[in-house]
Amino acid sequence: MKDFDIGRIRADFPLLRREVNGKPLVYLDNGATTQKPQQVIDAIIHYYQDMNSNVHRGVHYLSQISTDAFEVTRRKVQAFIHAEHEHEIIITKGATDGINLLAQCYGKAFVHAGDEIIISAMEHHSNIVPWQMLCEDKGAVLKVIPMNSDGELDMEQYQALLSPKTKMVAVTYVSNALGTINPIAEIIALAHQNGTPVLVDAAQAVQHLKVDVQALDVDFLVFSGHKMYGPTGVGVLYGKEKWLNAIPPYQGGGDMIKDVTFEKTTYNELPFKFEAGTPNIEAGICLAAAIDYLEEIGLDRIKAYEDDLLAYATEKLLAIEGLKMIGTAEHKSSVLSFVIKGIHPYDVGVILDKLGIAVRTGHHCAQPVMDQYRIPGTIRASLAMYNTREDIDALVAGIERAVKMLL
Ligand code: ALA
Repeated sequence: MKDFDIGRIRADFPLLRREVNGKPLVYLDNGATTQKPQQVIDAIIHYYQDMNSNVHRGVHYLSQISTDAFEVTRRKVQAFIHAEHEHEIIITKGATDGINLLAQCYGKAFVHAGDEIIISAMEHHSNIVPWQMLCEDKGAVLKVIPMNSDGELDMEQYQALLSPKTKMVAVTYVSNALGTINPIAEIIALAHQNGTPVLVDAAQAVQHLKVDVQALDVDFLVFSGHKMYGPTGVGVLYGKEKWLNAIPPYQGGGDMIKDVTFEKTTYNELPFKFEAGTPNIEAGICLAAAIDYLEEIGLDRIKAYEDDLLAYATEKLLAIEGLKMIGTAEHKSSVLSFVIKGIHPYDVGVILDKLGIAVRTGHHCAQPVMDQYRIPGTIRASLAMYNTREDIDALVAGIERAVKMLL
């Protein structure tokens, strides 16, 4: 593709040069985690070699430069998702951590017996279980937006579910198991007409398409660093200032307090109110390098490249006899989830691994999706900006070989 130097991009990712089982690695498990460019690896080394120190605590030089670097990340995230204020960016351990924080804290203040939380039929377990736990605690009710057999949400049913009892709508932007891109702007607008805030799980979105929280008018949004070419153990919870001020803190500890006595504690201001304890400093600081990397290449160009690759892969895979694509929505991003008649996904995954091809098999932490299709799981190839048509050709050849061996 013109304007997209795939050779240069691949050269930035040292792990892509290694062999697995004596074969050149074909890495197609990017939905689980992405590889890291040298720029991120260098930032991690730089952090430990030159600045390792705790943040927000010390007057000494190292603590100050670590704190400054940590806060640079916050501002980069703010710009990356176009948040209005930097204190609307809460640094978490990851998307799951952010959803648990929100379910617990928002739930404590705003959810009562008989209230309802709406999620969708295609949520990852991390956007199901925290809400279920809250509903159990509070005697609230979990409602689910159904989806059709292509993996598209039923928007009429969604509208019918919204009521004065609805206290939160929590939906994924892009399904990790199906690749569906949900009509998030419409989902948010309808929830707002009902007076209900919306959480968007953008863990499978921010690395593939431009996300603008103000344009979407979303109330809360989460994502993880490790799926966007950054370090593991760091993520983001974005929340509108008015909501973050209105909900109580999550964990108690250092940094989240203003004043502590045995009688009473007052809490710190945003964003620190939600950041108890020493964070993953290295990952927090080095997330900035991943954002720089994504922005240097540009999400519009990444999306165009990945969409082209997705179309190529879809066509090639569908030509394999007995292969059925799971997730055939009109709007999709970077995920090819499929089953092959008469063969268990796990067996295909094992053979592909012997050929140096990494895919994920199983339910992808989305068991209700598999239940809807009445399958135990799928084989999932999930794309990143560094994948190529050659990777897809290798996948197709590997599947054909597996089919010959297994049938
Ligand atoms: N949520 C990650 C995936 O879909 C782990 O693979």
